[in-house]
Amino acid sequence: MTEFDLDVLVIGGGPGGYVAAIRAAQLGLRTACVESRDRLGGTCLNVGCIPSKAMLHASELYDAAASGALAKLGMKVTAELDLDTMHAQRRQTVDQLTGGIEFLFKKNKVEWLKGRAAFAGPDSVAIGERIVRARHIVIATGSSHVDLPGVAIDQQIVVDSTGALELPKVPKHLVVIGGGVIGLELGSVWRRLGADVTVVEMLDQVLPGFDGDVRKEAGKIFRKQGFALKLGFKLAALEVTAGAAALTLEPVGGGAAESLTADAVLVAVGRRPNVEGLQLEKAGLSVNARGQIEVDDDLRTSAPNIWAIGDVAPGPMLAHKAEDEGIAVAETIANQRRVIDHRLIPSVVYTSPEIAGVGLTEEAARERGAVKVGRFPILANSRAKANHEPDGFVKVIADADTDEVLGVWCIASVAGTMIAQACQAMEFGALSEDIAYTCHAHPTHSEALKEAAMAVRGQAIHI
Ligand code: NAI
Repeated sequence: MTEFDLDVLVIGGGPGGYVAAIRAAQLGLRTACVESRDRLGGTCLNVGCIPSKAMLHASELYDAAASGALAKLGMKVTAELDLDTMHAQRRQTVDQLTGGIEFLFKKNKVEWLKGRAAFAGPDSVAIGERIVRARHIVIATGSSHVDLPGVAIDQQIVVDSTGALELPKVPKHLVVIGGGVIGLELGSVWRRLGADVTVVEMLDQVLPGFDGDVRKEAGKIFRKQGFALKLGFKLAALEVTAGAAALTLEPVGGGAAESLTADAVLVAVGRRPNVEGLQLEKAGLSVNARGQIEVDDDLRTSAPNIWAIGDVAPGPMLAHKAEDEGIAVAETIANQRRVIDHRLIPSVVYTSPEIAGVGLTEEAARERGAVKVGRFPILANSRAKANHEPDGFVKVIADADTDEVLGVWCIASVAGTMIAQACQAMEFGALSEDIAYTCHAHPTHSEALKEAAMAVRGQAIHI
């Protein structure tokens, strides 16, 4: 029996889903959003981007005090960790932001349908006993961590990213399986708070998908900070006994296995789309080999009235990609077609320094054709120098013939903020010359991007 008659039903209240729902409602469409968690905001706000940034920020300040960095700036402080308070401020931030989304739903008249959704047919969804019919259905169910075969997450000793945010005490030795974004961010939190951290990565460098120079330099910086990086190793066995884990690592290229013990193990080997329980087949949908729901340029699935956005659809699994797709799908449904260019979605790792990039890596750009590359070391940037932040560089990759900017990569304390400028320039089809001749305020870290653009033609001033 039809209980609702909606224009748009969004399944999932994360950054993709809640943004799609609000934008659809703004456009005058009668909209509801199904979310089973007791708070809106999805992984990002509840157990992902936001709480990890709250812990990264707090642990960075603690580290500055405990490591003597503040003393070098003329501030003598004694650092004492109060982990309970650090956790409490994280939870408070999450409460405030998730409550904010609930407020925005009310303000925009988006109805929150609490429960889990499963397709009942091509234009209807079951939420418990209720059947909801909608003209358009947007699937925005996000992703979950990937399990390693034979490794059980107990959230005590062996944790996923959610458990790694909640550790009740600082582990003596934290082993992180996976040298990707989650492993390096959460590994940074616990290293700063006093843990020895070993990162086990099966590839020969951390951060797959990032520019080769960036990956190499990032590895050096993390080692300098005290991380032990076991590159080219993968987990062969993990045994948990009372309060400890024994790990056997195998070199990927063959050779003798090595043993490690740890009092906490974080498994961060990627994420997979959430489609279980959705009963996609009842809507005539299926998933591709990677478990994603395929969509066309308009984010439309193979069913004309069903759309998919964010981590459940192809493309980078990033909150801002999901948000942009949320806006695009709502506008397309309202006949204001908008297409998202996946090439211009930035990636940021919120470590210290931050690591960011947009567009092609140098390797991919060279495969495409001749390029010119301008590079500028952060050491030569006056603001970074004044702040005692020597690590990193900015790199601008431009087409050798047209000078069009193809990629920008950046390691700097505020790289995540700096990369926005590169995204905007590339969105406008900028040449490296356009960035080079744009006036940048002095002294700012962003001047390093201008200098890297100038370096494309060998015209940087400060190197
Ligand atoms: P990831 O894909 O970034 O990294 C996983 C790493 O694990 C890879 O380097 C892979 O080579 C390695 N690996 C896989 N199996 C392994 C094994 N058996 N032994 C050793 N190493 C192994 O995945 P991650 O870090 O779990 O993040 C998941 C997703 O969440 C990513 O798509 C990421 O972009 C997103 N995310 C983004 C953040 C940001 O934008 N700052 C923050 C956190 C997550």
